[in-house]
Amino acid sequence: MIENNLLLRTIAKENVERPPIWLMRQAGRILPEYRAIRSSLSGFIELVTTPDLAAEVTIQPVDILGVDAAIIFSDILVIPECMGLEYQLIEKKGPYFPEVIKNMSDVEKLGEGDSAASQLSYVFDAVSITKERLNNRVPLIGFSGAPWTLFAYMIEGQGSKTFSKAKAMLYKEPEMSHKLLSKITKTIIAYLKLKIQAGVDVVQVFDSWAGMLDNRLYNEFCIPYLKQILSEITEVPRIVFSKGAYFAQKEIHSLGADVVGLDWTLDPEVYRSTYGFEQVVQGNLDPCCLYSNQADLGLQVQKMIKSFKSRHICNLGHGVYPDTPLDNVKHFIKTVKEFNY
Ligand code: CP3
Repeated sequence: MIENNLLLRTIAKENVERPPIWLMRQAGRILPEYRAIRSSLSGFIELVTTPDLAAEVTIQPVDILGVDAAIIFSDILVIPECMGLEYQLIEKKGPYFPEVIKNMSDVEKLGEGDSAASQLSYVFDAVSITKERLNNRVPLIGFSGAPWTLFAYMIEGQGSKTFSKAKAMLYKEPEMSHKLLSKITKTIIAYLKLKIQAGVDVVQVFDSWAGMLDNRLYNEFCIPYLKQILSEITEVPRIVFSKGAYFAQKEIHSLGADVVGLDWTLDPEVYRSTYGFEQVVQGNLDPCCLYSNQADLGLQVQKMIKSFKSRHICNLGHGVYPDTPLDNVKHFIKTVKEFNY
C-alpha cells in the first residue's frame, strides 16, 4: 500500500482533501542536486543508462520538493533507440539522430514490439530500483512519447519549430507513415507493459508535438494509435497529454484516458463548462507563471484549483523550465498543499 496515495485516489475519482501535485520534467531540470550528478558524468545518456543514478535523480524531487508522485528519469527517445535509431543529446541544442527515416525500406528495417522494447533493460532496472528505494512513499509514474511525437523525431532527426519534414511525410507518404506509426505504437505498448511489470503505478503518454497538426491529421495519424495504446494498456491508470491540440480536444476527451492532461492555453472554466466535471484532468499552470512574485503566483494557483473544482491533479501546462526560481517551485507546491477543497 502506498502511503501518500492522493494521486491514485484522485484518479479513482474519490473525494480528496486537496489536489495532488507533481511537475512535468521535475526530475532533471531544476535541482542543483541533479546538476551535481549530471556534471560528474559524460552526459545525459550516461545518466539515463545508469539505473542506480537514474533512480537517485527520480527520487530527488520527492525528497527535496515534497511532490506527491515521482516520474522515472528517462527520455521519450529510448523508443527510437531500441527500434534501431540511435540518438545523441547535443549540449544546449537538444536531441539529434545521425540517421533518420527516409523511405519504406528504412521503416522495414526497424525493430518493433517486444523484441525491441525488451532491450531497454536499463529503464526497467531503474524502475525496480526506484520502487525499492521509494519504499511506497509516493506512486511512481512511467511514461512514453506518443506515436506522432516519436515519429516526428525519427523523420526530422532533431527538434524543429515546425516539424515540417515530418508533417510533409504525412501528406506525401500516408501509407509509409501509417506503417511507421504502427511499428512505433507496438513498441510503445510493449515498453509500457515492461515498465508496469517493473513497478510503475501510473503511465503518461506525452504527445508534445500534437500542436503541429490540425484536426484532420490528428484524427487520421494520432487518435487511432492513442486508442490502440489505451485499449492494450489497462493494468494501471493512463494519462494522455497532447500539447497544443486544442483543435482535437473533443476527440482526445473521448479517448477514455483515466486522466486528460491540459496545456496552459486551456482555460479551466471553459474546459469544465464544455466537458463537465466528470473527467479527471491534469495541469495546467503556465510554466512561466513560476517567474511571477510569490503573492501573484499563489493567487493564480488558487484560482486554477477553484476553477477545476475537483478531479484535478495540479501540474504545469508543460515541463518546468530549467531556469525557474526554485523558491517559486517550492511556493507552488506549498500553496497546493495548504489548499483545502
Ligand atoms: O519529467 C521528468 O522529469 C522525467 C524525465 C524526462 C526527461 N525527458 C528527461 C530529460 C521526461 C518525462 C522527458 C520527456 C521528453 N523528452 C519529452 C516530452 C515532454 C515534453 O517536455 O514535451 C520530449 C519532447 C523529450 C525530448 C528531449 N529530451 C528534449 C527536447 C531534450 C533537450 C533538453 C530538455 O531538457 O528538454 C531532452 C533531454 C532531456 N530529457 C533532459 C532531461 C532532464 C536534459 C538533459 C540534460 O542536459 O541534463
